[in-house]
Amino acid sequence: MQCFQMIALAVAVFAMLSPYTVGSVGNASSVEFNIWKFEDQPLVMQLAAVYKEMEHFKCEQTNIRQQLEALNQMLTSPKNETTTEIGSTSLVYPPNHGEEDIVWSSEEEDSMRPFDPCFRYTVLDQPWRATNTSIKNKMCDRNVKWRGWYRLFYKGNSLQMPERCVPMNKCGTHAPMWLAGPHPKRRDGIVTRKVCGHWNKNCCAFKSTPIKVKKCQGNYYVYKFTKPSTCHLAYCADINTIVCGKCRKSETCVSRDNINWRCKKKPRPLKRKVHFFASYPGPISGKVNRIKYRTVLVNVGRAFNRRTGVFRAPVKGVYQFFFSTQSGKHGVKTDLWLVINGYWVAVSHTKIRSPSTVGNLSTYMTFLRRGSLVYVSQDCGSSWATASSNTITFGGSLLVQSKR
Ligand SMILES: *[C@@H]1O[C@H](CO)[C@@H](O)[C@H](O)[C@H]1NC(C)=O
Ligand SMILES: *[C@@H]1O[C@H](CO)[C@@H](O)[C@H](O)[C@H]1NC(C)=O
Ligand SMILES: *[C@@H]1O[C@H](CO)[C@@H](O)[C@H](O)[C@H]1NC(C)=O
Ligand SMILES: *[C@@H]1O[C@H](CO)[C@@H](O)[C@H](O)[C@H]1NC(C)=O
Repeated sequence: MQCFQMIALAVAVFAMLSPYTVGSVGNASSVEFNIWKFEDQPLVMQLAAVYKEMEHFKCEQTNIRQQLEALNQMLTSPKNETTTEIGSTSLVYPPNHGEEDIVWSSEEEDSMRPFDPCFRYTVLDQPWRATNTSIKNKMCDRNVKWRGWYRLFYKGNSLQMPERCVPMNKCGTHAPMWLAGPHPKRRDGIVTRKVCGHWNKNCCAFKSTPIKVKKCQGNYYVYKFTKPSTCHLAYCADINTIVCGKCRKSETCVSRDNINWRCKKKPRPLKRKVHFFASYPGPISGKVNRIKYRTVLVNVGRAFNRRTGVFRAPVKGVYQFFFSTQSGKHGVKTDLWLVINGYWVAVSHTKIRSPSTVGNLSTYMTFLRRGSLVYVSQDCGSSWATASSNTITFGGSLLVQSKR
């Protein structure tokens, strides 16, 4: 109900003000009354359009008043003074924000290097530990003084502990010890895992002391082995995982049965780069629904269209925009608005007595869905620029990309 009343009010205002706009400041003839084109849009869109127009009329009205004041002043006192007026009332609709998962890049680990077991481990290259070897003299890891972290090798090839029950008398011992749980992912950091020793058809006949495991960059694991509970137990190195040590940086090692392993391409990381910076190479006066920033200085990710002046979000995420203006010397109120998905969200406002001019830079940060459209509109006034002044500018960056 209220919405309809407001539209009615807006239409009334529209009717009241329209005589002013024709043939007045700037380029009134180019004002577009596109309220009526919104008929089949949702009500909220229609309202937004109405508010846009109302805001515009307010703007024009102020300009006329200013011009009158200026004329009066010129006639009465030839005093020179400069003032800046702050504050404009505007109805602002925020774009639809979602409570979305943000994926933060986690390279902070690198700063931890000196304490990271991934870079401080002992090489344990003992071929008898391999899951396919059975030797006469049985080994017992209880006789080893375990200290710190270890990385398993087989004749120089990196491999990992088996995640499955290993037949008795393998790994150069009686009861081979295997990891009773999955290897961690990189983001898991250091985890504690149980260790089992297989004996007499019981895969976990010996529940040995738990160990710590960490996955490292470069697709290998480090283990903090501990003294096993008894003899003869020994930690196993799974010969089938030799292939894992050969996976590329862009691959991970996977297995369905924990016996056969293969390298698999990792899903592409969320690391789209989107940055743009453009400027308008000349003055702009009056209302311009969409400024076509023709001079494009940066367009990484090609999301900004220089032909239309519209930025289209190529992925979901947090974006930051900035846009600026330099008021023309006409002393009129000049408003540039950042428009996101049809909503006016931020203004860059200037107003200063003629013939001084002043610049204004505004910024805005928001969450955007893929395909969101962003552009800048000059609602009223006059902005000054030359081909090289870079005073009327528009730019932005993707700060954080969200999960798809
Ligand atoms: C107004 O617009 C017309 C064309 O739409 C253009 O020729 C004219 O220069 C504009 N005037 C001003 C003051 O911008
Ligand atoms: C007003 O300012 C202009 C430019 O700064 C100057 O040329 C003019 O003399 C000034 N007039 C008065 C009355 O101060
Ligand atoms: C164990 O596997 C490795 C690598 O496949 C192989 O070189 C070695 O000969 C095998 N050892 C035995 C005893 O089968
Ligand atoms: C710049 O724009 C902001 C937002 O409209 C306004 O508060 C501020 O007064 C403006 N600065 C100048 C110098 O006009």
